[in-house]
Amino acid sequence: MNIIIVSDYEEVSKKAAEFVTDHMKSNPEIVLGLATGSTPEGLYRLIVEEYRAGGLDFSEVKTFNLDEYVGLGPEHRQSYRNYMGRHLFDHVNIDPDNINVPEGLASDPAAHSRRYEREIESCGGIDLQVLGIGRDGHIGFNEPGSSLRSRTRVVVLAAETIEDNARFFASMDEVPRFAISMGLGTISEARHCLMLASGEHKAEAVRECIEGAVTSMVPASVLQMHPQTTVLIDEAAASRLTRKDYYRAVQKGREKIVKLTGKEDVFNADQDG
Ligand code: GLP
Repeated sequence: MNIIIVSDYEEVSKKAAEFVTDHMKSNPEIVLGLATGSTPEGLYRLIVEEYRAGGLDFSEVKTFNLDEYVGLGPEHRQSYRNYMGRHLFDHVNIDPDNINVPEGLASDPAAHSRRYEREIESCGGIDLQVLGIGRDGHIGFNEPGSSLRSRTRVVVLAAETIEDNARFFASMDEVPRFAISMGLGTISEARHCLMLASGEHKAEAVRECIEGAVTSMVPASVLQMHPQTTVLIDEAAASRLTRKDYYRAVQKGREKIVKLTGKEDVFNADQDG
């Protein structure tokens, strides 16, 4: 894992936007895996700004979102499809045919999940997957206990997640209990992963993800097995890491060796470490 610690949320968003736009510029036909939640909102805002400034073209970009609530359609303001429209898709020149978000209203969610997997495969797989992290260590909606090799499927949301989501709904009864989520196996096959986290309330999940054991009890820990993962976090989210100084030294070392070799891609080999 390449762990980057920055000062605050704005810096996380800025660095994340640089990361994503660099990937988009070097591959105009990129297949992006996208996440929702409050964490990537700043990233999307900056991407839209860059697009408006003329620096980005989405015409050949394909996207696959991580997850969607079962029972919510695109018109529902709390659906992830709706979120994506408001924060990104409605503001850029992406072809609607190239947008993929699991369908919360699919009549056969299991069959739909299998089709979603096939669709990802037929696009050649995901080049760059953006991820947030839940307080219980989930990524996408893979709750603790999810198989590390799970595929896109219907999942039951954990009590902690339902509680965290309650603030977006008028009453507890309206909070969805189920979702369709890409699996940990699906996410693990993305060529690059970029996980973002900000704030003290994520510090424990971040510590377990980076420094704990690889276990289905902390779904994000599966990223320890991924060859090209960047974890971009602010000081507050990094506050419980025990090897912070080492991660900072690695960051400095990486910058130095890039300068020394003059090769920007010195760390872009298959194994990121
Ligand atoms: C939801 C999403 C996750 C997201 C998480 C954290 O559970 N399914 O993909 O990472 O929320 O959200 P936030 O960024 O708002 O803390």
